[in-house]
Amino acid sequence: MTQTVKVGILGATGMVGQRFATLLDNHPYFRVTEVVASERSAGKLYRDAATWVVDDPMPAWIRDMRVKTPADDLDVDLVFSAIPGGKAGPLETSLAERGIHVFSNARDHRWDADVPLLLPEVNPEHLSLVERQKTPGKIVTNGNCSTITAVMSLKPLHDVFGLRRVFFATYQAVSGAGYPGVPSLAIMNNVIPYIGGEEEKMEKETRRFLGSISPEGVALADVGVSATCVRVPVQEGHTVAVTAEFRSKPTPEEAAEALRTWQGVPQKLKLPSAPQRPVIVRAEADRPQPRKDVYAEKGMAVSVGRLRADALLDLKWIASGSNTIRGAAGSNVLGAELFVAEKRL
Ligand SMILES: NC(=O)c1ccc[n+]([C@@H]2O[C@H](COP(=O)([O-])OP(=O)(O)OC[C@H]3O[C@@H](n4cnc5c(N)ncnc54)[C@H](OP(=O)(O)O)[C@@H]3O)[C@@H](O)[C@H]2O)c1
Repeated sequence: MTQTVKVGILGATGMVGQRFATLLDNHPYFRVTEVVASERSAGKLYRDAATWVVDDPMPAWIRDMRVKTPADDLDVDLVFSAIPGGKAGPLETSLAERGIHVFSNARDHRWDADVPLLLPEVNPEHLSLVERQKTPGKIVTNGNCSTITAVMSLKPLHDVFGLRRVFFATYQAVSGAGYPGVPSLAIMNNVIPYIGGEEEKMEKETRRFLGSISPEGVALADVGVSATCVRVPVQEGHTVAVTAEFRSKPTPEEAAEALRTWQGVPQKLKLPSAPQRPVIVRAEADRPQPRKDVYAEKGMAVSVGRLRADALLDLKWIASGSNTIRGAAGSNVLGAELFVAEKRL
């Protein structure tokens, strides 16, 4: 399959939009035919409209593309959406009504009963919810970036040992707030113990990711979740301290083995963006660290370390992953690859 699917990047000039541009460079299924942003950027060449902040160079093919708005005629089969929550919802609905499939990073459709909140290794079966949508184009959403990092480390353990309850404490990167994001004067030499809406998202989305398909949509998993979310002066990579209790208590060695050997549907199907190791277990006492581990498996792996017994519950560990790749654009592209592989296009 060589680039037979025409795709647009919605929010192409932003933090996640730029990740889409680099991840879709030479993609075997997808060819970017449209770049879309707000009225502020419309009509400009991409290289003039975008303040390029990711470390990889801007792909040559996108530099001279002309930026459109979502209301323009778009020559696409599917769009990857990276526009702010609140604005995304109605725009994405209207694209789906126009027959365009939407893979979104925004929060607006995550709780629609017939919209999958998809993390391809964790709940690939939720993709079948699109069959309940009435529009010709289908909407699929990503989870919140810190939830994705945490759930990638929880799902292999939940499958084997049955999660009962879990506490999350996050250390979240500034790129999670987009560009220009958190002002440098607020975050340098500092820790900000509040990220609006983030704790609620982690507490709700974890239960949906681990939930099962029901006639009403998704039956939430019967697990207790409590989250504390904090912004730290890290450029890329959300780190989560996880403390969990299971129905069947694992030893740290058993948990490490379950994490190390975990493979999901994307690995079995050998999807182009699937990391060989979705979870990497680090043995060193001082890992994972975002600066050293965030781009493991091209940013698609979550690194887990400090797996040890907890004094109150059963186990605790540290998970760390890229917020803009695994926590956003990368999981979205992987989801769209699954959508194509399941012949849903
Ligand atoms: N950053 C992360 O780590 C992360 C992780 C997971 C999910 N997300 C979600 O992904 C989305 C994008 O986040 P981001 O961090 O990339 O934000 P960002 O850097 O602020 O980029 C926002 C993008 O949306 C465009 N935009 C704004 N209003 C628009 C409109 N009315 N119509 C069309 N385009 C519009 C902007 O275009 P202009 O340049 O023209 O203004 C820009 O391209 C958000 O929903 C966010 O919650 C982000």
